Amino acid sequence: MCGIVAYIGTRPARPLLIEGLKRLEYRGYDSAGVAVLDPSTKPAKIQLAKAVGRVGNLEERLEGTTWQGTVGIAHTRWASHGGVTETNAHPHTDDHAGIALIHNGIIENYSVLRKYLEQKGHTFVSETDTEVLTMLIGELYDPANGVDLEAAVQGALREVTGAYAIAVICKQEPDVIVAARKGSPLIVGIGNGEYIVASDPQAIIAHTAQAMTLDDYNVVKITRDGFRTSTIDNVEVTPKVLELESELDEIDLGGYEHYMQKEIFEQPAALRNTLRGRLDMKDGRVVLGGVSAFAKDLVRARRFIMIAQGTALHAAMVAEYLFEELARMPTECEYASEFRYRNPIVDEGTVVVAVSQSGETADTLAALNEAQDRGALSLGVVNVVGSTIARETDAGVYLRVGPEIGVASTKAFTGQLAVLTMLSLFLARRKLMSPEAAAKLQDELADIPNKIEHALGLAPEIKQITERYIQHENWLFLGRGVNYPVALEGALKLKEISYIHAEGMPVAEMTHGPIALINDGMPVVFIANQGAQYDKVLNNIAEVRARGGHVIAVATEGDRHIRTMAEDVIYVPPCSEALSPMLTVVPLQLMAYYAAVARGHDVDKPRNLAKSVTIE
Ligand code: M6R
Repeated sequence: MCGIVAYIGTRPARPLLIEGLKRLEYRGYDSAGVAVLDPSTKPAKIQLAKAVGRVGNLEERLEGTTWQGTVGIAHTRWASHGGVTETNAHPHTDDHAGIALIHNGIIENYSVLRKYLEQKGHTFVSETDTEVLTMLIGELYDPANGVDLEAAVQGALREVTGAYAIAVICKQEPDVIVAARKGSPLIVGIGNGEYIVASDPQAIIAHTAQAMTLDDYNVVKITRDGFRTSTIDNVEVTPKVLELESELDEIDLGGYEHYMQKEIFEQPAALRNTLRGRLDMKDGRVVLGGVSAFAKDLVRARRFIMIAQGTALHAAMVAEYLFEELARMPTECEYASEFRYRNPIVDEGTVVVAVSQSGETADTLAALNEAQDRGALSLGVVNVVGSTIARETDAGVYLRVGPEIGVASTKAFTGQLAVLTMLSLFLARRKLMSPEAAAKLQDELADIPNKIEHALGLAPEIKQITERYIQHENWLFLGRGVNYPVALEGALKLKEISYIHAEGMPVAEMTHGPIALINDGMPVVFIANQGAQYDKVLNNIAEVRARGGHVIAVATEGDRHIRTMAEDVIYVPPCSEALSPMLTVVPLQLMAYYAAVARGHDVDKPRNLAKSVTIE
């Protein structure tokens, strides 16, 4: 999704801003732009450049130019209002006050505001909602009457509805940046005599580990000497300051060709981190510091609702089985985007769990707030420390899998599964599970990273199998029980990076319609590990083979019989069914990765996609 970087300090702003944009490239974008104030004239001059495509194109555009200035803003845009053009790219400028602005989010009432501003004589050049906000700030800016940049931004934000994270500069105030947020992430890195505003810690951590977070409706005015934080109604507030984790090493490719590949292979180490210190084998109790203060409320809860989107939703769907099976806790799972707009029944006995890698997904956040307003206790299962969902939930458990850069979520998925499995054991042990049974599952859980390592050893074989089928434009992924959501995840992975159409569904659903799709050689991936419904899965495999489909089975090591049923078999180590999704998903992640590489796609930056979806 769009990325924001802004800088004020003593170093030349332009190279720093471009470097910051590069660190945000993984989020997905389609154009980029930068503006730096040149203080050598009075008022200062706004030096501005934009380019469609990669940040590299913007750099080419800047070649041979020498910009002065130590204050500037830069942006990567992921088009929402208006096509992918240079004119629509940010920064946007107003038509008289000398304002330049970058924005993430959507101004929902932009057309009303645009009409109002047009009546006042303003002329718009772009199709964007962002230009409207820029122009509104310019319209309100009146330093002679005490409306400086900070006041103009506050005034404009009082008029807008929607979501925003913005950074604004003005040629008449060359030593100031004003930033603000509502519903879109924004943090301010605090350096020595310098500040870096960014939508993502990745753009900050190379420069400083200290950062302040802003709450919704907060505005910050930053100079080289300090900052003032207020609400849009100009009530002063004290911001929270946190230490960013130094994860720079983890965001290097480290010899891999793509982040997705690196993150798939990192899963054993990532999961060891997730589990570290949280499994207490002695009496079978899971130790989750982030939720222990609420243990009684969780055990007494009447039901759990899991809300999430995309891959995180698939992890939550697995958890729905585990919470019910292991902890006998009624649990529902829902797209956050649907939950937020219906009239959900939520009461004090409800615990809502927001599952999100980024902790910034707009729909998940809005659904969480909806449930909180209705009296639910809220938990976050989040990867990014200090993210909005992590801050806004009553309690939670971090994934600790390290930064996930690839747009296709992989290690966050297995991390979410590990955390949600621990949460289900946390409840189960307190409600009904014997210490022995809990300790046994914990033991097995502790061994999952080793088993994933083993499964990754089959990568060359999986590559060969995948490459045989990449000319097929339609694939099916089928699974049962806890492996039904894994089938959905396999299909999502394949489509989002290889652009092959894939559908995932419960095995038995195939006979209710989708079986009509099966024709000669169509790849059908079955998750056919040993489990309660193994025999039923074999029957469905036979049905697909009888119709000419080509079966690729993910099976349990030692299962010779499956070889007589499926053309290709990918083995994963044996384990309890409840834990199997952490293993069965690994071959599917690798298949998607190798398919995308073989089809020549940009694996880490798939078309039209963004890492973190901060708009609806
Ligand atoms: O950051 P989140 O986990 O909340 O993101 C949710 C989805 O946007 C995300 O999982 C998306 O589906 C990924 N591209 C899947 O690989």
